Amino acid sequence: MCGIVGYVGDRNAFPILVNGLKRLEYRGYDSSGVALAQNGEITLYKKQGMVKAMEELALAGDTSGSTGIAHTRWATHGQPSDENAHPHVSNSGNLVLVHNGIIENYQALKELLQDNGFEFHSETDTEVLVNFIQYIQDQEDCKLKKAVRIALAQVIGAYAICIYDKNKPEEVVVAKLGSPLVIGLGVNEKFIGSDATPFLEYTKDAIYLEDGEMATLTAEGELDIRLIQSDKAVNAQVHKLQMDLESIEKGGYDYFMMKEIYEQPRAIYDTFRGRLLPEQGMIKMSGLEEYADRFRNADRIIMTACGTSWHSALVAEYLFEEFARIPVEVEYGSEFRYRNPIIRKNDVVIAISQSGETADTLAAIKMAKEAGAMVFGICNVPGSTIARETHAGAYTHAGPEIGVASTKAFTSQVTVLTMMALELGKIRGEFSTSQYRALLNELSVIPKKVEKVLESKELVEEISALYKDANNALYLGRGVNFPIALEGALKLKEISYIHAEGYPAAEMKHGPIALIDENMPVIVVAPNAGHYEKLVSNVQEVKARHGKVIAVVTEGDTEVVQSADHVIEIPETLEALTPLLTVIPLQLLSYYIAVMRGCDVDRPRNLAKSVTVE
Ligand code: M6R
Repeated sequence: MCGIVGYVGDRNAFPILVNGLKRLEYRGYDSSGVALAQNGEITLYKKQGMVKAMEELALAGDTSGSTGIAHTRWATHGQPSDENAHPHVSNSGNLVLVHNGIIENYQALKELLQDNGFEFHSETDTEVLVNFIQYIQDQEDCKLKKAVRIALAQVIGAYAICIYDKNKPEEVVVAKLGSPLVIGLGVNEKFIGSDATPFLEYTKDAIYLEDGEMATLTAEGELDIRLIQSDKAVNAQVHKLQMDLESIEKGGYDYFMMKEIYEQPRAIYDTFRGRLLPEQGMIKMSGLEEYADRFRNADRIIMTACGTSWHSALVAEYLFEEFARIPVEVEYGSEFRYRNPIIRKNDVVIAISQSGETADTLAAIKMAKEAGAMVFGICNVPGSTIARETHAGAYTHAGPEIGVASTKAFTSQVTVLTMMALELGKIRGEFSTSQYRALLNELSVIPKKVEKVLESKELVEEISALYKDANNALYLGRGVNFPIALEGALKLKEISYIHAEGYPAAEMKHGPIALIDENMPVIVVAPNAGHYEKLVSNVQEVKARHGKVIAVVTEGDTEVVQSADHVIEIPETLEALTPLLTVIPLQLLSYYIAVMRGCDVDRPRNLAKSVTVE
């Protein structure tokens, strides 16, 4: 987590750094800070809370300077406070550093430094690191880049860092292991970001630093990129960024989350555009074609992911088993990485991640690769670490997702996974051409149907007003819509702070039914699909205990509608595709409830968009 921005050039660095931090707030917003090089001194502004608070503080002072580094924090070592905010300055007052990641051996390094007279003013591992680099520099009497290299070779953990010396501010040193870092190449200026969004309006030329690399940046000079361990020079590839500014701005919506909910018809369309070819009766996915044999002969598919992406894997489990008849196991990255899973050479691992940076998912991928499995990545962020670490993959093309609560990334992931399930079913000869074609045709009209569901916005808003003060909520679904119940509950929890649970509807009677009383909203995902009759009974069981039922049903529903307190309709579609529609009202419900409770839906407390620490 945490966001890093840096600038070296001939412009005023402060506005670039602050705007960059605001774009990176999705990575954390416990505190922020900036260090500016001014006349041989380091001017530091740090403040607990959002970037805006720090900006106001800084604007009351001197914000000149054409070299600067900045940071927005998601707290790991030490609580959110002004003292723990980055940047951190070394005891000598010469070096200033921002850091994203965790230094695992920081305690041992701290003790070494304390034995040598160093003092600490924060609880962070970052303050230890900047002083450790200072210590090495003093010992070796060397340039900053050499000190950084020697110090990092002794560091255990994950980091992306950005550091400069106040006596030589025209040179900034950056390094990366496990946390992302991108360098933007301008004319007579260089930019640094945890992703490319901080410098999109200035340059489209970017270098993604690889793990184990460090770089020395000056405004005009060539980039000097080297391996940390061996000091060997690296020839890095310059990427042309495809993202534009408009796609990362709110475009008139109050929150990114709402903008992203509304972008779903377009995001789903962009995800299947050029891949889903209903007229030709085919799906074309190059990543899949390349590894068609591995998929065809796979004994098992293991899907690994976290959070919402894990829910899309659960949806896919139903679809892959139904259409392709391949056994599927769905694993949390965090659990998978720390047990001793049985991974065989004929297993195919599918890793799913919006950001492509989630540490637990990444660790699971590394483990699967070591065991000889082919790993297929499904990511939204082009060039992300997971996209680069996997053997093959498919981008979701949902466009940048900024709101911490994942919405369009989820439906785009489900779209990619649905196409994969269909294609694998076809290549494994598991289902008829007519069934395959019917699904292709129906998937192609899903964006229009999502638009229709979005028309229920006002209704969902009215329902939200009735339940905004609830303390608990229960979400029920069956079959392919069970993961949608989980996803609905996660959305409500993370942005409105209401305790919510998702359950397979039939499991209710094994425990959660005890929770139901007249104060309990029960959201039932009940489209007219496979287990509809069973769900009708589940709704009646809730009503018999005076629970309040909000049901998501198919247009023309005749049975659930009789017992539910509120119904939200989705258009008729094939059962396998219902998750793409049923999830939309649940996203809207959590959004409105959170807004009505005065929550900042784009930046829920304690969370960050991209979880790059374990
Ligand atoms: O970037 P990823 O998809 O790997 O992120 C995984 C989770 O951190 C993420 O889905 C998280 O659960 C979201 N906040 C859910 O809305």
